[in-house]
Amino acid sequence: MTKREQLYEGKAKKVFQTDDPELLIVSYKDDATAFNGLKKGTISGKGVINNRMSNLLMQRLEKAGIPTHFVEELSERETLVKKVSIVPLEVIIRNIAAGSFSKRYGVEEGLVFDTPTIEVSYKNDELGDPLMNEYHAIALKLATKEEIETIKKYSFGVNEQLKAFWKECGVTLVDFKMEFGRLSDGTIVLADEISPDTCRLWDSKTGEKLDKDRFRRDLGGVEDAYREIMKRLVEHV
Ligand code: TMP
Repeated sequence: MTKREQLYEGKAKKVFQTDDPELLIVSYKDDATAFNGLKKGTISGKGVINNRMSNLLMQRLEKAGIPTHFVEELSERETLVKKVSIVPLEVIIRNIAAGSFSKRYGVEEGLVFDTPTIEVSYKNDELGDPLMNEYHAIALKLATKEEIETIKKYSFGVNEQLKAFWKECGVTLVDFKMEFGRLSDGTIVLADEISPDTCRLWDSKTGEKLDKDRFRRDLGGVEDAYREIMKRLVEHV
């Protein structure tokens, strides 16, 4: 598949056109940002890890009946994906209180929920990705009621699959963010990435953070944490 002109450069990935109008190539960078781009840095080797991890997890999800944009891994950093128009919602599933949830509701990080929660934010950097409910999303025509129902069903399905998989790796899936897209025929598929950038992953025994919170919170050992979580994953695929 020939890589054509760059369509877009995001905070963590570049997106290129191909000869096929329905397919794109994403290229994962080592750049890291946090707090809506306020904090900037580099996590050496992150692009390679996130590319591989996202692809392995998406292939598992496909097998479990959840459609994704994944087509084929092309190289260490590059993957062929189905072209989608992104639904401008960031969908977050939480199994355990942490991050903005703990801050917003004044609860300690680590509080385990009986059932997972779901929330959506409007994917809009200028507005700082404000939290919204599904009525707001429908009113703003960001998605239809049917699309939101599909997205919720897939999101909880992804959580069940990933939670079980990470458990086998000795890792607790605390929370994670997903983005969905529409194919040209309107089919909703899981898009973007699933990686330590977009998930909170804690060592099940020690509680050690093996994700981007090490960067966000200046905890040190960022590269080691990415390498460790990748090692856990490849031992179990
Ligand atoms: P939060 O607690 O800061 O709302 O984050 C919830 C989850 O979403 C966490 O796993 C990190 C992920 N996330 C992203 O992937 N991108 C973002 O821009 C934010 C704010 C969080």
